[in-house]
Amino acid sequence: MGKVSVRMQLPGFTKSKKGTDWNRALEKKEVTMNISLQTEKPLKIATPCLVIGVFEKEIAVERLAAVSRLFGKDVSTLIDEGEFSGKARQTLLLHSGGEAPCRRILLVGLGPRQEASLENLRQGMGVAAGLLKGKRIDALAVDFSSFLFDVESPKEVAAALAEGLFLADYHFSRFLTEKREELPAMLRDVVFCLDGEGCRGEVGEGIDVARKICAGVVLARDLVNEPGNVKSPAYLAKRAREMAESAGLQCTILDKEELIRERMGALLGVAQGSSREPCLIVLEYLGNGGKGDPMVLVGKGVVFDSGGISLKPAESMDTMKMDMAGAAAVLGTLLAASMLGLPQRLVGIIPAVENLPSGTAIRPGDILTSLSGKTIEVLNTDAEGRLILADALAYAERFQPSCVIDLATLTGACIVALGHEAAAVLGSDQELIDKLITSGERSGDRLWQLPLWDDYCELIKSDVADVKNSAGRPAGTITGAAFLKKFVHEIPWAHIDIAGTAWEEKGRPCQPKGGTGFGVRLLIRFLRSCND
Ligand code: BES
Ligand code: MN
Ligand code: ZN
Repeated sequence: MGKVSVRMQLPGFTKSKKGTDWNRALEKKEVTMNISLQTEKPLKIATPCLVIGVFEKEIAVERLAAVSRLFGKDVSTLIDEGEFSGKARQTLLLHSGGEAPCRRILLVGLGPRQEASLENLRQGMGVAAGLLKGKRIDALAVDFSSFLFDVESPKEVAAALAEGLFLADYHFSRFLTEKREELPAMLRDVVFCLDGEGCRGEVGEGIDVARKICAGVVLARDLVNEPGNVKSPAYLAKRAREMAESAGLQCTILDKEELIRERMGALLGVAQGSSREPCLIVLEYLGNGGKGDPMVLVGKGVVFDSGGISLKPAESMDTMKMDMAGAAAVLGTLLAASMLGLPQRLVGIIPAVENLPSGTAIRPGDILTSLSGKTIEVLNTDAEGRLILADALAYAERFQPSCVIDLATLTGACIVALGHEAAAVLGSDQELIDKLITSGERSGDRLWQLPLWDDYCELIKSDVADVKNSAGRPAGTITGAAFLKKFVHEIPWAHIDIAGTAWEEKGRPCQPKGGTGFGVRLLIRFLRSCND
């Protein structure tokens, strides 16, 4: 039987021949997960654990009867007693008596079949992976056909399951030097058991697509998790250049002198409080042979946001190292796009700065002249994201883009409005926004639209400059977007506020604590949908 193998080599790690025990992560050498395909009957596979997906209340079926026979115990009684019904994310772990080829079976609830979605599959797989990792089980088999449902192709289902595994297996361990007993295993060996040869090609393709997308997500998560002392604007530029070299992208860095020559007064204004110099990172992916107007992706790259002179409270200021999550999403998306060989031209623009208070910092009341020529009254130095984006958006117009999408951890108000369940989307082009929302639903990076009526634009008028950077608390996410709108002309534009979704406080099935990589899966799904 031919074996298809897909290895996940996470960027930033070098390969080692050493064993694959849990301690490997601490050696900071290698994190790979091998996924292979087999057409053996699932219950005949020798594996530490076979994972079976169960749609809600579909459990009295043949598969479980076979499990009962094999394990010598009646699974249906456990189910009758209410231990498991197939609700989304529910699990039931069964141990075999030793006779069966598989040592364990893990049933994973997928919710009602009518409500089945790719996201439910990812989450189901994420829960399964988390449970096994916690028990130091690093190999598993997946009963692939148990996860299939009508509306999605085997390729999409395979991609979703693989994504769930890759994303659940992420761990930021760069700074851990001591052995920790409580650290979970890293997944090593996964086998997808297929019903027949029929869908082997499609499943292999799906897994490969997932691997490439997740490489982008992992890059984004790593960058967000890096601490501020490591992550200067110059460091972001270095990582961008390295990524561009390995992925075959063009990369240009505008340093402080060039920013001064270009008259990017808003970006420079934010940067002037920090001794670490700002830069503008420009990446270009020449899919489609570099033909056609590019789509431009802009990502907020504030490597640390203290608030500046309008200083933030000390409590949880540490999480403001994540204020470059928009930049990270753009870098991750470009990496994944080039790995996938997407057939379109893309430009990524990242204004990278640090927002600190000092004797040279901007003050509330200062007036800056932006690249566009528009003047900005800085009422609050903590509303710095929109300042650097103003210059980046004006710069984007030079590429004559077919559309511009910016991602930014822009407003605390976005968390008030939507919590951590969805990012806000606003913009000037409803067709673009609708496409993004659909891509969000399918990718799992969900979006919710807020209005951007002209009335909101009134709120950011200044008495002494063309615009002011803060309109106070009401509708904070919308006035932030209204500010950005002043710096985009005619071009279809969408703004995505990821303040609530870029960072995970507690940990979820496919999202360990820390940077989430939000935006990569969304944008890749969006870019792929533009070619349909
Ligand atoms: N980076 C913050 C927004 C933020 C807050 C992101 C919490 C993630 C979690 C942004 O620069 C900011 O400080 N915004 C201000 C704007 C206000 C002063 C108009 C805010 O939301 O308070
Ligand atoms: Mn701020
Ligand atoms: Zn900020």
